[in-house]
Amino acid sequence: MRLSIITIFPDYVAPLRGALLGKAIEKGIVSLDVHDLRDWTHDVHRSVDDAPYGGGPGMVMKPQVWGEALDEVCGTDVAHDGGLILVVPTPAGVPFTQATAQRWSREEHLVFACGRYEGIDQRVVDDASKRMRVEEVSIGDFVLIGGEVATMAMVEATTRLIDGVLGNPVSHQEDSFSDGLLEGPSYTRPVSWRGLDVPEVLLSGDHAKVAAWRHEQALRRTAQRRPDLLPPDHS
Ligand code: ADE
Repeated sequence: MRLSIITIFPDYVAPLRGALLGKAIEKGIVSLDVHDLRDWTHDVHRSVDDAPYGGGPGMVMKPQVWGEALDEVCGTDVAHDGGLILVVPTPAGVPFTQATAQRWSREEHLVFACGRYEGIDQRVVDDASKRMRVEEVSIGDFVLIGGEVATMAMVEATTRLIDGVLGNPVSHQEDSFSDGLLEGPSYTRPVSWRGLDVPEVLLSGDHAKVAAWRHEQALRRTAQRRPDLLPPDHS
């Protein structure tokens, strides 16, 4: 998978090259290009934003700079690049979920356009939508300073689902959300620690019993913490 990130803070997303994703890049499973949006400015101040039409606080990112950046990074004739999705992180987007990560993990090329300030001039998305798939997505009902942290979260959630990125290939099959429920508690040695014991069923060696217990724990935790995730018939 190819990942391209356009940002005014390239250093901010640099940690993506570390740890497991760095290994995936070394192995050639994932490639990562980080572009500085200011490389497409033409003025001496390298300015990327301007005052909003209609007034109000904050600044809006200029369409000309983003237009040129996307033309170059995505190509003007992206019909040849069937795998490309332009991702625009914004608190006004549709929710990014595990299902989004699963769908994106099968894509060839994701381009992340990180906006700052009050967002990007809407015509950038409207224009790009004529040539490519564009998804405006939010990682939650809160407002970050910009799209960089949201991009890092989405890149991590997506790439860990690609074969070969995680050390243990089956370890994401039992993730929270993959069966629609939160994952229950996990334990490792020692069997007793600070007066707290590992639940006995986990020591029983009875795989069916362990699976039933885990499902029960997942249901209980989901009911407590995220009742909105339970199927409607669950009481
Ligand atoms: N940019 C600012 N806040 C955001 C959010 N919650 N999700 C995605 N991008 C954002």
